[in-house]
Amino acid sequence: MESNILKRLREWFKKNAAMLPWRPTDLDAPRDPYAVWISETMLQQTQVATVRDYYIKWMKRFPDIETLAKANEEEVFRYWQGLGYYSRARNILRTAKTVCEQAVRQAHRPATMPRTRKELEALPGIGAYTAGAILSLAYHQREAILDGNLVRIFARFYALDFLPTDKASAGKNTTGKNEGCAEAYWKYAREVADSPKAYMHNEALMELGRTVCKSKNPECANCPLSGGCRAFAEGRTGEFPPKRKSAQREWRGTALVVESADGKLLAVSAGQPFLAGQATLPHFEHSRNATAGIPAEAEAYFNADNVVHTRECGSFRHNITVHKIECRVLHVKLSTKASKCVASSGKKIDPQFNATWVKKEDAAKAFANSFSLKALKNVF
Ligand code: ADE
Repeated sequence: MESNILKRLREWFKKNAAMLPWRPTDLDAPRDPYAVWISETMLQQTQVATVRDYYIKWMKRFPDIETLAKANEEEVFRYWQGLGYYSRARNILRTAKTVCEQAVRQAHRPATMPRTRKELEALPGIGAYTAGAILSLAYHQREAILDGNLVRIFARFYALDFLPTDKASAGKNTTGKNEGCAEAYWKYAREVADSPKAYMHNEALMELGRTVCKSKNPECANCPLSGGCRAFAEGRTGEFPPKRKSAQREWRGTALVVESADGKLLAVSAGQPFLAGQATLPHFEHSRNATAGIPAEAEAYFNADNVVHTRECGSFRHNITVHKIECRVLHVKLSTKASKCVASSGKKIDPQFNATWVKKEDAAKAFANSFSLKALKNVF
């Protein structure tokens, strides 16, 4: 993008930047790299309006990386609950621990986020986008970012008829070389960041994508880039970026609320279709030839001889990543105490499910994911 366009972009941002909890009033002030890392990770798959409150609560509880590194996963998940994509939370904790352990080893306290792309990208959950955001917004380095907002802006500005995720050959026409579609977009991103004002260009573009160069109904009349935008000049903003086929996948299944005679609920944290590594209700996809009664898949979690009743308690809808879930909830009441519960094989519940029993009154805390909580609401 030419310098006069970028100047307009900066002026637009200074006038129109929204007040956000992670954004200082002085837009030229360097920021706390920890705060940038947390906010940008939350913002990766989630809308600004949702992230706002989560971010405020998070920063109250975990104001710096050292406080976070001392927390346990269960608590971190609770602060993430509702944001989805829980691997982000797990990676944040792993990265905090790694950075703090390194700081102790190298005797440079307090721990701070690394200052190079290479070191940042080596940390769990930090990819090219997050690294670029930390380096530019916090450390004011000339480092590029590329997120969905920037992709949409570049696609329109340069009338790019391919997406960064397309196969390499699609990028050939516009770049002259078969260098890959992602690289073509990153080249534009680096051009914008090749300036002492990289931090402002990067964030202004994200803000512009969010509020003006929106996917639907872009407000080109208010856009500081319209003077150079090819799609606008050709009246073709609706054609860019090119549409991708929906990746949404439908998933139908059952969640089990297995309750022991002493009022405990079965939680599993492995071998499940969703929420790997987290305490969740056992769940499985419906087989096509399912019949009435207790589904065969369910019996991996209890011994059918001990069942007092199975009750179908309704169903709920929920989205996890690309999965559109429709889930039936089955309450299975057992006649045995939790300590005596076995699976229908007669052995302990399959160790690969990593099963534990949770007191009913602790359920809201133990099942720190919306999927399980929604299911439980159907029963209790
Ligand atoms: N989306 C993701 N990060 C953002 C930021 N820093 N400003 C505006 N929108 C964003």
